[in-house]
Parts: sequence; C-alpha cells; structure tokens
Amino acid sequence: MTAILTRPAWTTDLELEIFDKLLDKYAPHIPKKRSLEPRSPETDEERENFYRFRMAGAAHDLFIVQVCAKIIDSFANPELQLFLSRQIGDDGAHAQNTRLRAQAILGHDPIEDIQKQVQKHWDYMGDLPIRNWQGFLAFELHYELHIVALLFINSRTSKINDPDSAKFAAERILPDEAVHRLGVVDWWQRKYDQASPAEKEDLIAQVIEADEEGQRRRNPYLRDHWQLSQKAIGIEIDDLPVLYDAWRREILSYFLDIPISRLPQLVSVND
Ligand SMILES: [Fe+2]
Ligand SMILES: [Fe+2]
Repeated sequence: MTAILTRPAWTTDLELEIFDKLLDKYAPHIPKKRSLEPRSPETDEERENFYRFRMAGAAHDLFIVQVCAKIIDSFANPELQLFLSRQIGDDGAHAQNTRLRAQAILGHDPIEDIQKQVQKHWDYMGDLPIRNWQGFLAFELHYELHIVALLFINSRTSKINDPDSAKFAAERILPDEAVHRLGVVDWWQRKYDQASPAEKEDLIAQVIEADEEGQRRRNPYLRDHWQLSQKAIGIEIDDLPVLYDAWRREILSYFLDIPISRLPQLVSVND
C-alpha cells in the first residue's frame, strides 16, 4: 500500500525554505547568505568571550548525552534505542571536540567548567526531560529543533569563529544534527500514526503542554545565551525573539500536523 503524503517530508531544504519565509516576514534586513567570512578571536577579551560561548555549546551537547543516557533504558522500542544511541555518540563527540579545541587554545582542560554548565541545564529543566515520553519529546524539540532559528542566524551573521571548529562543524556537526532532527520527527510520527483519532487529540494536547513547560523553563537561559552569542561571536539578536517564536510555531505546526492558526497562544521566549 502506498502512503498518501499530505505534506512534504522534513528535510534541511524545507527548514531553509521555512526560515527564509520567516525572515521575509519578520526581519527582511537579515541577509539570506553570509556576506563576511568570520575571523578568529584576537584580543584577550574576545578569546575569553569566545571560550565562554563554546563552553556553553559543549554543555548543551553533554546535557543531551546525559539525558539520553538516563532515559534510553526506559524505552522498549529498539528503533528508538538505536536512534538515541546514535545521538549519544554524536553529541558526545561534538562536546569532546569542543573540549579538546578549548584545551589546545587555552592550555587547560575545561571539563569542570562544562559540567558546571550542564548542571545549570539540569537545574532549570528539572525532571522534565526524563519525567515521561512527553517530557523527553519536549526536551528533544527544544534541544534539537527549536534552536535551529539561532543556528540559522549564527550561520549568516556571526563575525568571529575558530577555523578548526568551523571545519568540524561543517563536516561533522551539521550532518549529524540533521539526522537528529529527522530522528525526532520520525519517532513522533510513528507514535502519532498508530494512535486512533480520539487518542490523536490527546497526544497533541500532551505534547503542547510539555513543550510549553520546556519553553517557560528555558526562557531565562535562552535570553542569557543569546546575549552571550552577540558578545562572543557578534550575531544579530534584535529580531531573534520574534523569529524564535515564529520558528517554534512552524515546528509545532508541522510536527503536530495542524495549521498555525489552530495552535493555542504559545508562551513566548520574552515571557
Ligand atoms: Fe550536537
Ligand atoms: Fe544533536
């Protein structure tokens, strides 16, 4: 039997198309392509800020490793286990690369700094990522999909980067992260497709509730992190709140297969 596709598959091309549509609507002055190649940090202050920014990235990755490692055993589904084992391996490798790069530049191992920041993620997210599948799905949405708005802005407006890190990001991180986003979409779609129409309504409500809780928990962190990103790599953040909120609506609309107009009023990153 051939499945009837009612909408396009989730791909990196579709992500780009959606994000550019949002840029046209909310921030047409932001370039669609980078006009300036980033340069390396030069002063001590720039190196310090860049270091803090990169440690935040490593903490994001290591937090994903810790959450997935804690929860993998509670899922009986071998398909999901294989996906999560890949995510653990990939995001662990991303964190490790950042750690080693920082060590090479600074001359000391930043692992304690990284773990301190991972603890902050645990503090503000609480038990949501490991509470139940809904909380874990919300965690995956926030840590893998909703953040893409920031990644797009970074890739177009950042002014400072380390060439070695940029190479690793292009060759390894970008393709890995695309697989992670697809894996999350795939897991959810299998779950959703098996549900009856009555169950579907319920599932949608549960996912939105958990995702909203994730947004409220993440708001102070996100705003701080964007400030740091501006200071450290020079990205433009004035339009980020409106782009982030709009991007998240697009993700949820695609994910839950309901038009944006039928989504409830969502928590904003500015709330
Ligand atoms: Fe990663
Ligand atoms: Fe990831």
